[in-house]
Amino acid sequence: MEAIIRRALDMTLPSEEEVERARRSEEEIRRRLEKILKDHPKLDYRFLGSYARNTWLKDNLEIDVFILFPEETPMDELERLGLEIGKAVVDEFELRYAAHPYVHGKVLGVDVDVVPCYRVKSPREIRSAVDRTPFHHDWLKDRVKGRENEVRLLKMFLKANEIYGAEYKVRGFSGYLCELLIVFYGSFLNVLRGALSWRRNTVIDIPNGRVYKGREFFVVDPVDPRRNVAANLSLENLAKFVQLCREFLRNPSIDFFKRRDLISDEDLKREIEGRVVLVVEFERPDVVEDNLYPQLEKACGLILKNMREFQPLRYGFVVDERCYMIFEFGVKELSRFYRHMGPMFEDEENVERFLRKNERVFIEGGRFWSLRERRFLKPRDAMTNVIERNWIGMGKNVGKKVREGFEIFEGFEILKIKSVELRRKLRDVLCIKHPSS
Ligand code: UTP
Ligand code: MN
Ligand code: MN
Ligand code: MN
Repeated sequence: MEAIIRRALDMTLPSEEEVERARRSEEEIRRRLEKILKDHPKLDYRFLGSYARNTWLKDNLEIDVFILFPEETPMDELERLGLEIGKAVVDEFELRYAAHPYVHGKVLGVDVDVVPCYRVKSPREIRSAVDRTPFHHDWLKDRVKGRENEVRLLKMFLKANEIYGAEYKVRGFSGYLCELLIVFYGSFLNVLRGALSWRRNTVIDIPNGRVYKGREFFVVDPVDPRRNVAANLSLENLAKFVQLCREFLRNPSIDFFKRRDLISDEDLKREIEGRVVLVVEFERPDVVEDNLYPQLEKACGLILKNMREFQPLRYGFVVDERCYMIFEFGVKELSRFYRHMGPMFEDEENVERFLRKNERVFIEGGRFWSLRERRFLKPRDAMTNVIERNWIGMGKNVGKKVREGFEIFEGFEILKIKSVELRRKLRDVLCIKHPSS
């Protein structure tokens, strides 16, 4: 175990060169901000997040700098000025969205987030989620000291298994959650050992130093006890983590810190053989992920609801340059007919009408039935029709794009799609190999 942890640390520790690059960028950010903020004496800035606490992962450097505004600043003024300052700080920028829009860019080649927030007296007075961040930092700073590498090991372990990050796309563990767990349990290995007894209703009460049962998996935010730091962790990923902990502790291996390889064409082909797998591809709407993912979820749900006869097995979706919805069904082709229920035999009037309208009528259990002809026998045809009839219910942006055009790939055709994200997701949806391998 010790040797494995040592090797993992080698993989997670930023190199001296990276640290040096970070320091130079930090200095440059300070210089630029001091100059810009001369015109805004009421504003202040702070370095927060994993860079400020020295808990960032090797090759994942990103400096978070927060611009603090007085409480009385109107929201639109904070947003406007926040972006203006952000754009002035970084060399090349793009807009990103959290509680407010913020600027992401580069300073001396290093990724930087410039996030505006309110400077409030206590976390009870926050106006948006990002206003808690300075309090998170103050709470963590000294407590994490000396345990930075334990945090890194945990982040790496999670990242390798695709459950690091609280964003909708991942629904895993946020950086802040990782740091809290390390503080609570003391070390990487102790977090893993502690997780062996986690249940879906476990409450980890960080401020009171206790673990007990509640209504859902809940990690109490020490700066705001009403807030669940694990609110975005899905039940599936909680279960996946607990199982990973069991397996790693039973059978330690460096592989738990390495991302699994993409599945090759040959292996994918072998897996798809004899299965009914469909991928719907369409253009990616230009909306933020937190807006896009719920729409994709809705679209998949709608399709599945109308495809029940094909016995859906699993589904998933993924966003790359384009959007992909993945479905697997248990039925390759339906027969020509389905059972259609008619009236009870006593109801003469309706029986007459039923007989006029239906061919292939039979009586069963005292009522009339018929065998009706299906319009679509193959999942691809049925799905095409379902999508064409239902795009309007698929969310505003997804619906619009789907209406403009979509393509369905079936079976081996899927191999033609050149999307790394799709390849990764297919592995999950098609249950290729054990979840942790
Ligand atoms: P980060 O996502 O940068 O996380 O958010 P991190 O802790 O620095 O971890 P890594 O190493 O980059 O992955 C920094 C802080 O900004 C706040 C959170 O409080 C977080 O701790 N934040 C960030 C939000 O509140 N909302 C966001 O959407 C993003
Ligand atoms: Mn960060
Ligand atoms: Mn980040
Ligand atoms: Mn960030």
